[in-house]
Amino acid sequence: MAIVSEQTVQVIQKEALSSQQRHLAALMESYTKRTKTSKANAQAHRQVLADPRLSEWFDPSTKEMCYLIVGARSQGSRIWDVDDNEYVDMIMGFGANLLGHNPAFVKEALQAQLEKGIQLGPQAEFAGEVAELISELTGMERVAFSNTGTEAVMTAIRLARSATQRSKIAVFTNSYHGHADGVLVEARFKLPQILEKLIGKAAIARFNARSFPMASGIPTAIAKDVLVLEYGNPGSLQVIQANRRQLAAVLVEPIQSQQPDLQPKAFLQHLRQLTQDSGIALIFDEMITGFRLHLGGAQAWFGVNADIATYGKVVGGGMPIGVIAGKATYLDKIDGGMWSYGDASCPQVEKTFFAGTHCKHPLSIAAARAILQYLKHQGPTLQDRLNQRTSSFVERLNADLETHSLPVRMANFGSFFSPVFCKDADPTTIFSLMAGLDLLRYHLCDRGILLRGEGGGFLSTAHTDEDINCMIQAMNGSIAELQKAGFFPNS
Ligand SMILES: Cc1ncc(COP(=O)(O)O)c(C=O)c1O
Repeated sequence: MAIVSEQTVQVIQKEALSSQQRHLAALMESYTKRTKTSKANAQAHRQVLADPRLSEWFDPSTKEMCYLIVGARSQGSRIWDVDDNEYVDMIMGFGANLLGHNPAFVKEALQAQLEKGIQLGPQAEFAGEVAELISELTGMERVAFSNTGTEAVMTAIRLARSATQRSKIAVFTNSYHGHADGVLVEARFKLPQILEKLIGKAAIARFNARSFPMASGIPTAIAKDVLVLEYGNPGSLQVIQANRRQLAAVLVEPIQSQQPDLQPKAFLQHLRQLTQDSGIALIFDEMITGFRLHLGGAQAWFGVNADIATYGKVVGGGMPIGVIAGKATYLDKIDGGMWSYGDASCPQVEKTFFAGTHCKHPLSIAAARAILQYLKHQGPTLQDRLNQRTSSFVERLNADLETHSLPVRMANFGSFFSPVFCKDADPTTIFSLMAGLDLLRYHLCDRGILLRGEGGGFLSTAHTDEDINCMIQAMNGSIAELQKAGFFPNS
């Protein structure tokens, strides 16, 4: 065995370091030059504009590239920034743009509504029609509208608590349900972030299912009414069974954007049976899965009928909207239930509180009507085809990731995809990859591909084969560069 002197080791380490530093400097130079107006915009307004997304991926070593690309216009699968750079957009409005940007028929519906004015107060002309469409496509009995997904989930929980007269709810680790206080709860003990990433939040929850507020400013008292359980683990069903008399609802993100490879059909079917037997409302948060995975969302996908489902994103075609849909037992809590004119009928059910100045906003409702009519007309083949295209795209990406010997793969559900670490990957390798993965996003952006911060995204019906090829080429080129610079191990 050759003996390497300490000096030689130091020289090799220094060279590796300088190769990384050189690479980083070149990337920063290219990135910030190309997107200089976006960077200037971030700095010019930082003092006044408080925006969490502007510091979300802050890292001292890459801080010069830490800003949002400012969008100037968009069409189909593409976005142009304020420096007129063109991107294949795979953020797609965080899932709102199933049909790509600015579909002609949605634009026409919005223009027609703008011509007619924005009347808040009188009933929105098409609110009833949109409710009927949602009911028809999802099989849900009744429908109410809010402005965002966060509000829809918050309302769904209130309806469940009101109808069951119970206060506790159960949620699952790694799920996201928006930013209302009542769902910003996590299972702890608290570990450093890096260990959390390595071990996984689910494993932490297994050790200790006590729940705590996820961030400062959320009252501890709120967490007392929330059980945070491990998703897909049959042990969680036992905890639900043990708490069945206190639980108003179990809130589920049926396929979690944070672990898209976990698709626990049998677990969900058992959960359905258990909640039904115990009078607990099963709430499916279909914010991402709704109308994307399948016309009937995750419920149709898994063959599970929830009591309440919340939707948003795709429904609004880019306009803000939230939808609370479900069985009359729960939705009647909004308006007192069915009654008719010309007889003695009246609202029978005691209401809870629900309101919102902009609920059923005429522009959002006009866009939703155009989108839902289109989806209904297209039928389930639209989602089937898009899901199939995404799976093929992900397969191609994964073959390349394997060739590059990186212990990370893309997982997809329907047309959503996101990176996951290989189950058998050595934690130290994952740790050493982290910095490179952060840089990968900047590299891809520099090559004209926009992805979500986590490195995944959405395929829309507007993405062409050329877009997909561009993304795959950009990914391969970026990985090769990061390997050459020593940020990723060489295959
Ligand atoms: C599953 C899920 N629920 C709720 C929300 C919150 O929706 P909104 O951002 O419209 O408030 C999101 C948003 O990404 C989501 O993914």
